[in-house]
Amino acid sequence: MTNKVRIAIFAGLIPLWTVAQHVKITHGPYLQAVRENEATIVWTTDVDAVSWVEFAPDGDESFYAVERPSCYQTKDGNRVIGKLHKVTIPGLEKGTEYRYRVFSKAVLRYEGQSDVLYGHVASTNVYRERPLRFRTLDTGRKEIAFTVVNDIHGRIDDLRALTRNVVGERKDLVLFNGDMVSDMEDETAFFAGFMDEAVKLFASEVPVFYARGNHETRGKFNVNFSSYFPTSTDKLYYAFRQGPVHFIVLDSGEDKPDSDIEYSGLSRFDAYRSEQREWLKKELRSESFRTAKYRLVIVHIPPVDSDWHGTLEVREKFLPELNNAGITAMFCGHTHRYNGLEPGPLHDFPILINATNTALEVRADATGMTVERKDTDGKVLNRFHYPAK
Ligand SMILES: [Fe+2]
Repeated sequence: MTNKVRIAIFAGLIPLWTVAQHVKITHGPYLQAVRENEATIVWTTDVDAVSWVEFAPDGDESFYAVERPSCYQTKDGNRVIGKLHKVTIPGLEKGTEYRYRVFSKAVLRYEGQSDVLYGHVASTNVYRERPLRFRTLDTGRKEIAFTVVNDIHGRIDDLRALTRNVVGERKDLVLFNGDMVSDMEDETAFFAGFMDEAVKLFASEVPVFYARGNHETRGKFNVNFSSYFPTSTDKLYYAFRQGPVHFIVLDSGEDKPDSDIEYSGLSRFDAYRSEQREWLKKELRSESFRTAKYRLVIVHIPPVDSDWHGTLEVREKFLPELNNAGITAMFCGHTHRYNGLEPGPLHDFPILINATNTALEVRADATGMTVERKDTDGKVLNRFHYPAK
């Protein structure tokens, strides 16, 4: 609230109720960093607010049957006041479906802990609408299915077409493999570019995991990326397991040298990729990786198909670690053109470079992993089968 508005209220020129009013959920909610025992819900509001999530087990019992447990958005013990809301629900059971409802209460004035004026509350609807729901991950799950898209560059019609069966076929998760938008100029760029549509289609109920592309590193808002797409490691490189598949998500950074004039001295991706290499060495020794039947690497820039700097860095820093580690396949994007590479002298695992207007639809169970590359009409263009380890 501006000082002018405060003075006007005090002088009786503006009744308080006319400003102590609306808080609106402007984007989301969507799921992030879903694990076996926790999930994070993200959304935004149009005014400053404090937020919380109520959750309930799945089932026929009304959401209103009993008071549901609440998880609050806090930082170091204090509730957070702001327009970006992230609430982590801890202590969940693996492989279990939950219903949830998000709340934001407008904060009209905050002059200190003893002087807070609240306004209205916005929430998702569990009265006229079915409550939102999600399922936690489960290492023991026998069969999983997921979809990978990349290089959407804000083409929401293609996103809609490529992910249309995500909810109907109860996919476990969706992977965004970079360049979903062309520029992180501001918050609107990525919500309007793809994320609002993803929320409408599936992202409130199906976990999204994101491998950043080089275009998401660009634009004035780029440093805020991880605030909107948090991960289990608080880094943009991380790993997770669902059923028989262990996923390693890497951030290949920019495609040109850090010193390129286009980056105006702001890029330091060589050091960042070296940092990832050290994390990768440890990750490849993890029990989850070692015990998985399938080990997938998700990285936007492929280590082949170009001699640009980003490609060479991925080749030189990541491939030596990944070779001989029993990788099932690597999924990439970036080039906008499909290329399916068999294992060769550079890499001892297949590499699938997905095109800009196709999706990889993957199913994995105890016997094998099948990958179908589909176009926007749902036509299967390629099919691959990888045996279990
Ligand atoms: Fe790219």
